[in-house]
Amino acid sequence: MLIDFIYSVYSYIFSCYVLYWGLVIVGCPAIVHVLIKFCWNYYITLWCVTDNELSHLPIPPGTLGYPFIGETIEFIRKNDRFYKSRQDKYGSVYRTHVLGRPTIRVSGAHNLRKILMSENSYVSSQWPPSIRKVLGPYALSMMDDIHEHKERKRLLINLFLPDALNDHIPIIRKTIKHFIDEWCQKGKILGYPQCRNLAFIMAAKCLAGFECDNEMGNELSTIYQSMIHNMFSLPIELPGFGLYKALKAKKQLIQRISENIQKLQNIPVDDRKGVSALDFLLREEDENCRFKTCESIVELMFASHDTTSSAMCSCLMFLGKYPNVIKKVREEIGSDDLDNLTLNDFPKYKYAYNVTKEVLRMTPPVGAGYRKVLKSFQLEGYKIPKGWTVAYGIRDTHHTSPLYTNSDVFNPDRWDDLPNFDRITPDNLETRYNYATFGGGPRTCIGKDFAKLVLKLFVLHVCKSCDWKLENKDAELYYIPVPRAVDGLPLVVQKRKNND
Ligand code: HEM
Ligand SMILES: *[C@@H]1O[C@H](CO)[C@@H](O)[C@H](O)[C@H]1NC(C)=O
Ligand SMILES: *[C@@H]1O[C@H](CO)[C@@H](O)[C@H](O)[C@H]1NC(C)=O
Repeated sequence: MLIDFIYSVYSYIFSCYVLYWGLVIVGCPAIVHVLIKFCWNYYITLWCVTDNELSHLPIPPGTLGYPFIGETIEFIRKNDRFYKSRQDKYGSVYRTHVLGRPTIRVSGAHNLRKILMSENSYVSSQWPPSIRKVLGPYALSMMDDIHEHKERKRLLINLFLPDALNDHIPIIRKTIKHFIDEWCQKGKILGYPQCRNLAFIMAAKCLAGFECDNEMGNELSTIYQSMIHNMFSLPIELPGFGLYKALKAKKQLIQRISENIQKLQNIPVDDRKGVSALDFLLREEDENCRFKTCESIVELMFASHDTTSSAMCSCLMFLGKYPNVIKKVREEIGSDDLDNLTLNDFPKYKYAYNVTKEVLRMTPPVGAGYRKVLKSFQLEGYKIPKGWTVAYGIRDTHHTSPLYTNSDVFNPDRWDDLPNFDRITPDNLETRYNYATFGGGPRTCIGKDFAKLVLKLFVLHVCKSCDWKLENKDAELYYIPVPRAVDGLPLVVQKRKNND
């Protein structure tokens, strides 16, 4: 009895010790942890709201993570799941803290329209300082002055009007066919790096007028890659730092483009007609604007490269998973000769177009757009505070919109019954933002028609001339900076036998 008693007293004291030290070792940091998070949240929501406007409205729900780093690590690690879990918990407007800024993430057609149509009144475009510095003040996406932006955009849009696009078609086709032939010869390829290469060569030819034989292509590509890799870096312009390297690479790129312009200018105008976007700019802008022209070309190459390559690779992935879709594309092509297509012939390939649309809905290359809030405004009863960042979620919208049944399933046939959002009509002013692959409003993607054209040609040619198999059908997707299969999408490619 007694021994039992003493034993239980001892064990009681022992367990208290364990509990005590357990609390000290595990509990206290947990409490400190909660306290730090709480104070940070309190600080941001109270002190980083600098105006008194709409003060009767609450800030959107959500969490802000740890001081300074916010939720950036979780955002990078989980990415897609990061948004999904928050969307499930908080709905279509919530707060978070990523990439050094307090951010409100919004989704849904109504909210997207509000953000995109409020450019310059409530929001303005926002880019990290290092990217601003590299792309420079003449880049369209960096121009803050609305009038300057509008004027520049009106000039550059000429590069993508139907006549110009028709001139691009033979170059795009030739490049795509060259790559497909190479893939068939190799037999085994990694889809993602190959599509990146293809997209780069295409941009260098169409947008910068380079011939891009192999040597030239490789050299240019090396310079360009050096710019891209070092672009997302700390804004410190000293030797050894990323930004310094990126700026050096950009200088070299501008030098090459400038030399190329000189070369093109020596060719008689009639002979060089339609060679590239350059020609148009050369006609419009005088010698003094040479630098501006070169800057624009660098921006266009930058904006088109990652986006189109991700989209092409996603086409290979989804089509590889759904052989019946390839079959339907082939039925639509029938025995057509694809080598003489012009823009006027494309309406015939509606199904192939819907395939590209569905690919862009499932994995939009640009997952979200970022804006700085200039003036507090209201959204769904919440206050969106001045000075914060607001991110309009493209992917989130595509995957939660009530318009798309089973929105996580790749299904090009869904477009049979959906309105066509390509044109703005009085009755789709809001609904068309359910499909926001190319943004909207004054900052709409300037290259969207070019991108659509490239993707249509890519799908038609790849379905017509080769068979391919995914080596890993369940590869996970990674979304930063653009969606891609984690394993680079290994493929086995074969020339089609009964082709022609
Ligand atoms: C599938 C391919 C593409 C996608 C998904 C895409 C997507 C987008 C999106 C969403 C925006 C708006 C960003 C924002 O609101 O902040 C944008 C802007 C832009 N895009 Fe694209 N893009 C693609 C291809 C291209 C191509 C091929 C070019 C050029 C040849 C291009 C040039 C630009 C430029 C210059 C802007 C900035 C426009 C401005 O600020 O006024 N894009 N793009
Ligand atoms: C397509 O163009 C090629 C040369 O560019 C020409 O030889 C061929 O006859 C054309 N085919 C058709 C069907 O027009
Ligand atoms: C493609 O989508 C459009 C709407 O965007 C639809 O009208 C058309 O029927 C679809 N065509 C095919 C062949 O799926």
